[in-house]
Amino acid sequence: METKRSSFTGKIGFVLAAAGSAVGLGNIWRFPYLAAKYGGGVFLLVYIALSVTFGFSLMIAEIAIGRKTGKSAVMAFGELDKRFSAVGFIASLVPMLILPYYSVIGGWVLKYFAGFVSGGAAEMANDSYFGGYISSVGQPLFWFALFIGITAIVVLFGVEKGIEKVSKVMMPILVALTLFIALYTIFAVDGAWEGVKYYLMPDFSHFSLMTVVAATGQLFYSMSLAMGIMITYGSYMKKDISIEKSAKQIEIFDTGVAFLAGLMIIPAVFAFSGGDESALGQGPGLMFVTLPKVFEAMPGGTVIGAVFFFMVLLAALTSSISLMETIVSIFMDKFRINRRISCLIVLAFSVLLGLPSSLGYSVWGNVKILGMQMLDLFDFLSNSIMMPIIALVTCIFVGFILKPKAVIDEVTVNDTPFKWRGLFSVVIRYIAPVCILAILISSVLSAFGIITI
Ligand code: PFF
Repeated sequence: METKRSSFTGKIGFVLAAAGSAVGLGNIWRFPYLAAKYGGGVFLLVYIALSVTFGFSLMIAEIAIGRKTGKSAVMAFGELDKRFSAVGFIASLVPMLILPYYSVIGGWVLKYFAGFVSGGAAEMANDSYFGGYISSVGQPLFWFALFIGITAIVVLFGVEKGIEKVSKVMMPILVALTLFIALYTIFAVDGAWEGVKYYLMPDFSHFSLMTVVAATGQLFYSMSLAMGIMITYGSYMKKDISIEKSAKQIEIFDTGVAFLAGLMIIPAVFAFSGGDESALGQGPGLMFVTLPKVFEAMPGGTVIGAVFFFMVLLAALTSSISLMETIVSIFMDKFRINRRISCLIVLAFSVLLGLPSSLGYSVWGNVKILGMQMLDLFDFLSNSIMMPIIALVTCIFVGFILKPKAVIDEVTVNDTPFKWRGLFSVVIRYIAPVCILAILISSVLSAFGIITI
Protein backbone atom coordinates (compact mmCIF):
# COMPACT_ATOMS: atom_id res chain seq x y z
CA MET A 1 0.00 0.00 0.00
CA GLU A 2 1.17 3.48 -0.74
CA THR A 3 1.99 5.25 2.46
CA LYS A 4 3.37 8.51 1.19
CA ARG A 5 1.55 11.28 2.95
CA SER A 6 1.25 14.55 1.16
CA SER A 7 1.37 17.73 3.15
CA PHE A 8 0.03 21.18 2.60
CA THR A 9 2.48 23.63 1.15
CA GLY A 10 2.27 25.99 4.08
CA LYS A 11 -0.02 27.78 6.40
CA ILE A 12 -2.09 29.34 3.64
CA GLY A 13 -2.53 25.94 2.00
CA PHE A 14 -3.88 24.42 5.20
CA VAL A 15 -6.17 27.28 6.12
CA LEU A 16 -7.51 27.52 2.59
CA ALA A 17 -8.19 23.82 2.25
CA ALA A 18 -9.90 23.70 5.64
CA ALA A 19 -11.88 26.86 4.90
CA GLY A 20 -12.88 25.49 1.49
CA SER A 21 -14.36 22.48 3.24
CA ALA A 22 -15.93 24.56 5.99
CA VAL A 23 -17.52 27.31 3.92
CA GLY A 24 -20.37 25.85 1.96
CA LEU A 25 -24.10 25.39 1.94
CA GLY A 26 -23.96 25.25 5.72
CA ASN A 27 -23.07 28.93 5.84
CA ILE A 28 -25.18 30.29 3.04
CA TRP A 29 -28.22 28.06 3.03
CA ARG A 30 -28.45 26.44 6.48
CA PHE A 31 -27.27 29.16 8.87
CA PRO A 32 -29.75 31.87 7.74
CA TYR A 33 -32.79 29.60 7.94
CA LEU A 34 -31.85 28.35 11.38
CA ALA A 35 -31.14 31.88 12.60
CA ALA A 36 -34.47 33.06 11.21
CA LYS A 37 -36.33 30.18 12.78
CA TYR A 38 -34.67 29.98 16.19
CA GLY A 39 -34.63 33.52 17.48
CA GLY A 40 -32.64 35.82 15.18
CA GLY A 41 -30.30 37.88 17.37
CA VAL A 42 -30.36 35.37 20.20
CA PHE A 43 -29.38 32.61 17.85
CA LEU A 44 -26.51 34.69 16.51
CA LEU A 45 -25.28 35.47 20.02
CA VAL A 46 -25.46 31.84 21.17
CA TYR A 47 -23.76 30.72 17.98
CA ILE A 48 -20.83 33.11 18.39
CA ALA A 49 -20.45 32.21 22.08
CA LEU A 50 -20.34 28.51 21.19
CA SER A 51 -17.96 29.15 18.35
CA VAL A 52 -15.25 30.79 20.47
CA THR A 53 -15.51 28.14 23.20
CA PHE A 54 -16.68 24.73 21.89
CA GLY A 55 -15.81 25.31 18.27
CA PHE A 56 -12.36 26.61 19.10
CA SER A 57 -11.51 23.81 21.55
CA LEU A 58 -12.81 20.98 19.43
CA MET A 59 -11.10 22.27 16.32
CA ILE A 60 -7.77 22.51 18.18
CA ALA A 61 -8.22 19.01 19.59
CA GLU A 62 -9.03 17.47 16.22
CA ILE A 63 -6.23 19.14 14.30
CA ALA A 64 -3.74 18.20 17.04
CA ILE A 65 -4.86 14.55 17.09
CA GLY A 66 -4.41 14.42 13.33
CA ARG A 67 -0.99 16.03 13.35
CA LYS A 68 0.25 14.01 16.31
CA THR A 69 -0.70 10.65 14.82
CA GLY A 70 -0.27 11.50 11.14
CA LYS A 71 -3.37 9.39 10.51
CA SER A 72 -6.88 9.98 9.26
CA ALA A 73 -9.81 9.75 11.67
CA VAL A 74 -10.54 6.03 11.27
CA MET A 75 -7.03 5.14 12.43
CA ALA A 76 -6.06 8.09 14.63
CA PHE A 77 -8.19 7.25 17.69
CA GLY A 78 -7.18 3.59 17.59
CA GLU A 79 -3.54 4.56 17.34
CA LEU A 80 -3.79 6.62 20.52
CA ASP A 81 -5.94 4.15 22.44
CA LYS A 82 -7.32 0.87 21.14
CA ARG A 83 -10.54 1.19 23.16
CA PHE A 84 -11.48 4.28 21.18
CA SER A 85 -11.08 2.85 17.67
CA ALA A 86 -14.85 2.82 17.18
CA VAL A 87 -15.06 6.61 17.47
CA GLY A 88 -13.09 7.08 14.29
CA PHE A 89 -15.32 4.60 12.56
CA ILE A 90 -18.53 6.33 13.66
CA ALA A 91 -17.06 9.71 12.75
CA SER A 92 -16.46 8.54 9.23
CA LEU A 93 -20.09 7.47 8.88
CA VAL A 94 -21.20 11.11 9.24
CA PRO A 95 -19.91 12.33 5.87
CA MET A 96 -21.62 9.31 4.29
CA LEU A 97 -24.94 10.46 5.72
CA ILE A 98 -24.40 14.10 4.80
CA LEU A 99 -23.10 13.79 1.23
CA PRO A 100 -26.33 12.44 -0.34
CA TYR A 101 -28.68 15.09 0.99
CA TYR A 102 -26.02 17.80 0.62
CA SER A 103 -26.00 16.94 -3.07
CA VAL A 104 -29.78 17.17 -3.27
CA ILE A 105 -29.54 20.79 -2.06
CA GLY A 106 -26.54 21.28 -4.37
CA GLY A 107 -28.84 20.19 -7.19
CA TRP A 108 -31.35 22.90 -6.23
CA VAL A 109 -28.55 25.48 -6.42
CA LEU A 110 -27.48 24.17 -9.81
CA LYS A 111 -31.06 24.44 -11.06
CA TYR A 112 -31.35 28.04 -9.83
CA PHE A 113 -28.08 28.94 -11.48
CA ALA A 114 -29.25 27.42 -14.77
CA GLY A 115 -32.59 29.20 -14.36
CA PHE A 116 -30.96 32.61 -13.94
CA VAL A 117 -28.68 32.04 -16.91
CA SER A 118 -31.52 30.97 -19.17
CA GLY A 119 -33.73 33.94 -18.41
CA GLY A 120 -36.03 32.36 -15.82
CA ALA A 121 -35.32 34.92 -13.12
CA ALA A 122 -38.82 36.40 -13.05
CA GLU A 123 -40.44 33.00 -12.82
CA MET A 124 -38.19 32.00 -9.92
CA ALA A 125 -39.15 35.09 -7.97
CA ASN A 126 -42.70 33.79 -7.84
CA ASP A 127 -43.87 32.71 -4.37
CA SER A 128 -44.96 29.26 -5.39
CA TYR A 129 -42.06 28.47 -7.72
CA PHE A 130 -39.77 26.73 -5.24
CA GLY A 131 -42.50 24.61 -3.67
CA GLY A 132 -43.70 23.55 -7.11
CA TYR A 133 -40.19 22.74 -8.24
CA ILE A 134 -39.12 20.50 -5.36
CA SER A 135 -42.43 18.67 -5.40
CA SER A 136 -41.89 17.59 -8.99
CA VAL A 137 -40.07 14.30 -9.51
CA GLY A 138 -37.82 14.31 -12.56
CA GLN A 139 -36.14 17.73 -12.47
CA PRO A 140 -34.79 17.69 -8.90
CA LEU A 141 -33.46 14.18 -9.50
CA PHE A 142 -31.77 15.28 -12.71
CA TRP A 143 -30.01 18.26 -11.07
CA PHE A 144 -29.08 16.15 -8.05
CA ALA A 145 -27.51 13.54 -10.33
CA LEU A 146 -25.62 16.24 -12.21
CA PHE A 147 -24.29 17.79 -9.00
CA ILE A 148 -23.08 14.52 -7.51
CA GLY A 149 -21.75 13.48 -10.92
CA ILE A 150 -19.56 16.61 -11.12
CA THR A 151 -18.37 15.99 -7.56
CA ALA A 152 -17.45 12.40 -8.41
CA ILE A 153 -15.53 13.41 -11.56
CA VAL A 154 -13.43 15.91 -9.63
CA VAL A 155 -12.70 13.38 -6.89
CA LEU A 156 -11.85 10.77 -9.51
CA PHE A 157 -9.28 12.98 -11.18
CA GLY A 158 -8.14 14.49 -7.90
CA VAL A 159 -7.68 18.08 -9.03
CA GLU A 160 -6.51 19.31 -5.62
CA LYS A 161 -4.42 22.07 -7.09
CA GLY A 162 -7.37 23.25 -9.14
CA ILE A 163 -9.58 23.44 -6.07
CA GLU A 164 -7.03 25.53 -4.24
CA LYS A 165 -6.87 28.00 -7.11
CA VAL A 166 -10.63 28.15 -7.56
CA SER A 167 -11.11 28.79 -3.83
CA LYS A 168 -8.63 31.64 -3.84
CA VAL A 169 -10.52 33.52 -6.54
CA MET A 170 -14.00 32.50 -5.58
CA MET A 171 -14.04 33.19 -1.84
CA PRO A 172 -13.38 36.93 -2.08
CA ILE A 173 -15.98 37.30 -4.85
CA LEU A 174 -18.52 35.38 -2.80
CA VAL A 175 -17.90 37.54 0.27
CA ALA A 176 -18.08 40.78 -1.75
CA LEU A 177 -21.30 39.73 -3.49
CA THR A 178 -22.96 38.68 -0.24
CA LEU A 179 -22.05 42.01 1.32
CA PHE A 180 -23.33 43.90 -1.71
CA ILE A 181 -26.66 42.04 -1.75
CA ALA A 182 -27.07 42.59 2.01
CA LEU A 183 -26.40 46.32 1.73
CA TYR A 184 -28.67 46.65 -1.26
CA THR A 185 -31.57 44.98 0.54
CA ILE A 186 -31.09 46.96 3.73
CA PHE A 187 -30.88 50.35 2.05
CA ALA A 188 -33.02 49.98 -1.04
CA VAL A 189 -35.87 47.66 -0.10
CA ASP A 190 -38.70 48.94 2.11
CA GLY A 191 -39.27 47.14 5.38
CA ALA A 192 -35.83 45.51 5.58
CA TRP A 193 -34.73 47.40 8.72
CA GLU A 194 -37.12 45.40 10.87
CA GLY A 195 -35.23 42.32 9.77
CA VAL A 196 -31.86 43.87 10.57
CA LYS A 197 -33.11 44.55 14.08
CA TYR A 198 -34.47 41.03 14.45
CA TYR A 199 -31.13 39.63 13.37
CA LEU A 200 -28.76 41.91 15.26
CA MET A 201 -30.59 42.77 18.47
CA PRO A 202 -30.98 39.76 20.72
CA ASP A 203 -34.47 39.49 22.13
CA PHE A 204 -34.34 36.96 24.94
CA SER A 205 -38.01 36.18 24.70
CA HIS A 206 -37.09 34.29 21.53
CA PHE A 207 -34.64 32.10 23.41
CA SER A 208 -35.45 28.42 23.87
CA LEU A 209 -33.50 25.24 24.45
CA MET A 210 -33.90 24.60 20.76
CA THR A 211 -31.84 27.73 20.07
CA VAL A 212 -28.87 26.05 21.74
CA VAL A 213 -29.51 22.63 20.20
CA ALA A 214 -29.79 24.06 16.70
CA ALA A 215 -26.78 26.36 17.16
CA THR A 216 -24.57 23.52 18.37
CA GLY A 217 -25.54 21.22 15.52
CA GLN A 218 -24.95 24.04 13.08
CA LEU A 219 -21.55 24.80 14.58
CA PHE A 220 -20.29 21.25 14.04
CA TYR A 221 -21.76 21.07 10.57
CA SER A 222 -20.49 24.43 9.44
CA MET A 223 -16.95 23.99 10.71
CA SER A 224 -16.76 20.40 9.50
CA LEU A 225 -16.17 19.27 13.11
CA ALA A 226 -17.02 15.97 14.81
CA MET A 227 -16.76 13.98 11.62
CA GLY A 228 -13.08 13.36 11.31
CA ILE A 229 -12.39 15.93 8.60
CA MET A 230 -10.17 18.18 10.71
CA ILE A 231 -8.27 15.16 12.01
CA THR A 232 -7.48 14.14 8.46
CA TYR A 233 -6.49 17.70 7.54
CA GLY A 234 -4.36 17.96 10.66
CA SER A 235 -2.46 14.87 9.58
CA TYR A 236 -1.32 16.79 6.52
CA MET A 237 -0.18 19.81 8.52
CA LYS A 238 3.45 20.63 9.04
CA LYS A 239 4.88 20.97 12.54
CA ASP A 240 6.00 24.56 12.22
CA ILE A 241 2.52 25.93 11.59
CA SER A 242 0.51 27.29 14.50
CA ILE A 243 -2.57 25.18 15.13
CA GLU A 244 -4.08 27.88 17.32
CA LYS A 245 -3.76 30.65 14.76
CA SER A 246 -5.03 28.45 11.95
CA ALA A 247 -8.06 27.37 14.00
CA LYS A 248 -8.88 31.00 14.77
CA GLN A 249 -8.60 32.01 11.13
CA ILE A 250 -10.82 29.19 9.93
CA GLU A 251 -13.39 30.10 12.57
CA ILE A 252 -13.41 33.80 11.81
CA PHE A 253 -13.77 33.12 8.13
CA ASP A 254 -16.49 30.53 8.50
CA THR A 255 -18.51 32.54 11.01
CA GLY A 256 -18.00 35.72 9.00
CA VAL A 257 -19.50 34.21 5.87
CA ALA A 258 -22.44 32.77 7.84
CA PHE A 259 -23.03 36.15 9.49
CA LEU A 260 -23.11 37.93 6.15
CA ALA A 261 -25.41 35.32 4.64
CA GLY A 262 -27.86 35.93 7.49
CA LEU A 263 -27.60 39.66 6.94
CA MET A 264 -28.40 39.12 3.31
CA ILE A 265 -31.38 36.83 3.75
CA ILE A 266 -33.19 37.71 7.00
CA PRO A 267 -33.89 41.41 6.26
CA ALA A 268 -35.09 40.35 2.82
CA VAL A 269 -37.55 37.91 4.38
CA PHE A 270 -39.00 40.74 6.47
CA ALA A 271 -39.21 43.05 3.51
CA PHE A 272 -40.95 40.63 1.19
CA SER A 273 -43.27 38.97 3.68
CA GLY A 274 -44.68 42.32 4.81
CA GLY A 275 -43.76 41.62 8.43
CA ASP A 276 -45.43 38.20 8.52
CA GLU A 277 -43.40 36.36 11.19
CA SER A 278 -44.38 32.90 9.98
CA ALA A 279 -42.21 33.49 6.89
CA LEU A 280 -39.19 33.17 9.20
CA GLY A 281 -39.95 29.56 10.02
CA GLN A 282 -39.97 28.46 6.44
CA GLY A 283 -36.88 26.29 6.83
CA PRO A 284 -34.76 24.83 4.04
CA GLY A 285 -36.49 26.80 1.28
CA LEU A 286 -35.67 30.22 2.72
CA MET A 287 -32.74 31.07 0.48
CA PHE A 288 -34.46 29.82 -2.65
CA VAL A 289 -37.67 31.71 -2.04
CA THR A 290 -36.33 35.02 -0.76
CA LEU A 291 -33.23 35.74 -2.79
CA PRO A 292 -34.83 35.55 -6.24
CA LYS A 293 -37.19 38.30 -5.05
CA VAL A 294 -34.27 40.51 -4.06
CA PHE A 295 -32.71 39.96 -7.47
CA GLU A 296 -36.00 40.71 -9.16
CA ALA A 297 -36.18 44.06 -7.36
CA MET A 298 -32.58 44.98 -8.15
CA PRO A 299 -31.40 46.69 -11.33
CA GLY A 300 -29.28 44.15 -13.21
CA GLY A 301 -30.61 41.51 -10.82
CA THR A 302 -30.61 38.71 -13.37
CA VAL A 303 -26.87 38.95 -13.91
CA ILE A 304 -26.11 39.43 -10.23
CA GLY A 305 -28.38 36.49 -9.40
CA ALA A 306 -26.63 34.27 -11.93
CA VAL A 307 -23.18 35.20 -10.58
CA PHE A 308 -24.40 34.71 -7.01
CA PHE A 309 -25.80 31.23 -7.57
CA PHE A 310 -22.63 30.34 -9.45
CA MET A 311 -20.52 31.30 -6.42
CA VAL A 312 -22.79 29.35 -4.09
CA LEU A 313 -22.50 26.43 -6.45
CA LEU A 314 -18.70 26.54 -6.30
CA ALA A 315 -18.73 26.83 -2.50
CA ALA A 316 -21.07 23.84 -2.35
CA LEU A 317 -18.85 21.88 -4.72
CA THR A 318 -15.64 22.48 -2.76
CA SER A 319 -17.48 21.13 0.29
CA SER A 320 -19.09 18.16 -1.42
CA ILE A 321 -15.74 17.29 -2.97
CA SER A 322 -14.10 17.26 0.46
CA LEU A 323 -16.95 15.12 1.79
CA MET A 324 -16.62 12.59 -1.01
CA GLU A 325 -12.82 12.65 -0.93
CA THR A 326 -12.92 11.74 2.76
CA ILE A 327 -15.18 8.76 2.20
CA VAL A 328 -13.30 7.60 -0.89
CA SER A 329 -9.96 7.67 0.89
CA ILE A 330 -11.37 5.74 3.86
CA PHE A 331 -12.64 3.05 1.50
CA MET A 332 -9.31 2.92 -0.30
CA ASP A 333 -7.41 2.49 2.97
CA LYS A 334 -9.80 0.06 4.60
CA PHE A 335 -10.63 -2.23 1.71
CA ARG A 336 -7.44 -1.73 -0.27
CA ILE A 337 -9.26 -0.87 -3.46
CA ASN A 338 -8.20 1.67 -6.04
CA ARG A 339 -9.55 5.19 -6.36
CA ARG A 340 -11.76 4.46 -9.33
CA ILE A 341 -13.64 1.56 -7.75
CA SER A 342 -13.90 3.36 -4.46
CA CYS A 343 -15.33 6.40 -6.22
CA LEU A 344 -17.91 4.29 -8.03
CA ILE A 345 -19.05 2.60 -4.83
CA VAL A 346 -19.39 5.92 -3.01
CA LEU A 347 -21.25 7.42 -5.96
CA ALA A 348 -23.65 4.49 -6.11
CA PHE A 349 -24.64 4.55 -2.46
CA SER A 350 -24.84 8.34 -2.40
CA VAL A 351 -27.29 8.27 -5.28
CA LEU A 352 -29.30 5.58 -3.50
CA LEU A 353 -29.42 7.54 -0.25
CA GLY A 354 -30.06 10.80 -2.08
CA LEU A 355 -33.15 9.46 -3.84
CA PRO A 356 -35.37 9.36 -0.74
CA SER A 357 -34.10 12.82 0.29
CA SER A 358 -35.19 14.28 -3.02
CA LEU A 359 -38.39 12.28 -3.44
CA GLY A 360 -39.39 13.10 0.14
CA TYR A 361 -40.67 16.40 -1.22
CA SER A 362 -42.82 14.74 -3.88
CA VAL A 363 -44.01 11.16 -4.29
CA TRP A 364 -42.61 9.91 -0.99
CA GLY A 365 -43.94 12.90 0.87
CA ASN A 366 -45.96 10.81 3.28
CA VAL A 367 -43.12 8.50 4.24
CA LYS A 368 -42.11 9.90 7.59
CA ILE A 369 -39.83 8.57 10.28
CA LEU A 370 -40.04 10.21 13.71
CA GLY A 371 -42.31 12.75 12.03
CA MET A 372 -39.61 13.86 9.62
CA GLN A 373 -39.30 13.41 5.92
CA MET A 374 -36.06 11.89 4.68
CA LEU A 375 -33.90 14.96 4.11
CA ASP A 376 -34.74 16.31 7.55
CA LEU A 377 -34.18 12.87 9.05
CA PHE A 378 -30.66 12.55 7.60
CA ASP A 379 -29.91 16.09 8.71
CA PHE A 380 -31.25 15.37 12.20
CA LEU A 381 -29.42 12.04 12.59
CA SER A 382 -26.07 13.46 11.56
CA ASN A 383 -26.27 16.90 13.19
CA SER A 384 -28.30 16.30 16.32
CA ILE A 385 -27.37 12.74 17.22
CA MET A 386 -24.13 11.46 15.71
CA MET A 387 -22.05 14.63 15.77
CA PRO A 388 -22.85 15.40 19.42
CA ILE A 389 -21.97 11.79 20.33
CA ILE A 390 -18.65 12.02 18.53
CA ALA A 391 -17.93 15.46 20.00
CA LEU A 392 -18.76 14.18 23.49
CA VAL A 393 -16.51 11.15 23.20
CA THR A 394 -13.73 13.27 21.69
CA CYS A 395 -13.91 15.66 24.66
CA ILE A 396 -13.86 12.82 27.19
CA PHE A 397 -11.02 11.16 25.35
CA VAL A 398 -8.92 14.30 25.11
CA GLY A 399 -9.89 15.60 28.56
CA PHE A 400 -9.42 12.47 30.64
CA ILE A 401 -7.67 9.71 28.73
CA LEU A 402 -5.17 11.46 26.52
CA LYS A 403 -5.20 14.55 28.81
CA PRO A 404 -5.25 18.14 27.54
CA LYS A 405 -1.51 18.29 28.04
CA ALA A 406 -0.94 15.96 25.08
CA VAL A 407 -2.84 18.35 22.83
CA ILE A 408 -1.11 21.38 24.34
CA ASP A 409 2.27 19.71 23.74
CA GLU A 410 1.36 19.15 20.11
CA VAL A 411 0.15 22.73 19.65
CA THR A 412 3.24 24.21 21.31
CA VAL A 413 5.76 22.01 19.53
CA ASN A 414 8.76 24.10 18.32
CA ASP A 415 7.87 26.69 20.99
CA THR A 416 4.77 27.84 19.12
CA PRO A 417 2.69 29.93 21.56
CA PHE A 418 -0.77 28.73 22.69
CA LYS A 419 -2.47 31.71 24.27
CA TRP A 420 -5.86 30.26 25.04
CA ARG A 421 -4.63 27.01 26.55
CA GLY A 422 -6.43 27.65 29.84
CA LEU A 423 -9.76 28.12 28.08
CA PHE A 424 -9.08 25.04 25.99
CA SER A 425 -8.45 22.76 29.00
CA VAL A 426 -11.51 23.90 30.93
CA VAL A 427 -13.86 23.74 27.96
CA ILE A 428 -12.70 20.35 26.73
CA ARG A 429 -12.84 18.71 30.18
CA TYR A 430 -15.86 20.22 31.84
CA ILE A 431 -17.97 22.71 29.95
CA ALA A 432 -18.22 20.99 26.59
CA PRO A 433 -19.05 17.45 27.81
CA VAL A 434 -21.80 18.65 30.15
CA CYS A 435 -23.42 20.89 27.56
CA ILE A 436 -23.15 18.39 24.74
CA LEU A 437 -24.68 15.68 26.90
CA ALA A 438 -27.60 17.95 27.75
CA ILE A 439 -28.09 18.73 24.08
CA LEU A 440 -27.96 15.11 23.09
CA ILE A 441 -30.52 14.06 25.67
CA SER A 442 -32.89 16.84 24.73
CA SER A 443 -32.72 16.14 21.02
CA VAL A 444 -33.37 12.43 21.55
CA LEU A 445 -36.30 13.17 23.87
CA SER A 446 -37.76 15.66 21.45
CA ALA A 447 -37.42 13.29 18.50
CA PHE A 448 -39.53 10.77 20.36
CA GLY A 449 -42.02 13.41 21.28
CA ILE A 450 -41.31 13.16 25.00
CA ILE A 451 -40.47 16.84 25.33
CA THR A 452 -41.04 19.78 23.04
CA ILE A 453 -38.09 22.09 22.76
N1 PFF B 1 -18.96 22.57 6.38
C1 PFF B 1 -19.70 22.40 5.16
C2 PFF B 1 -20.74 23.49 5.04
O1 PFF B 1 -20.89 24.29 5.96
O2 PFF B 1 -21.41 23.54 4.02
C3 PFF B 1 -20.35 21.07 5.08
C4 PFF B 1 -19.36 20.01 5.17
C5 PFF B 1 -18.37 19.90 4.21
C6 PFF B 1 -19.37 19.16 6.19
C7 PFF B 1 -17.41 18.96 4.29
C8 PFF B 1 -18.42 18.17 6.27
C9 PFF B 1 -17.46 18.11 5.32
F1 PFF B 1 -16.57 17.19 5.37
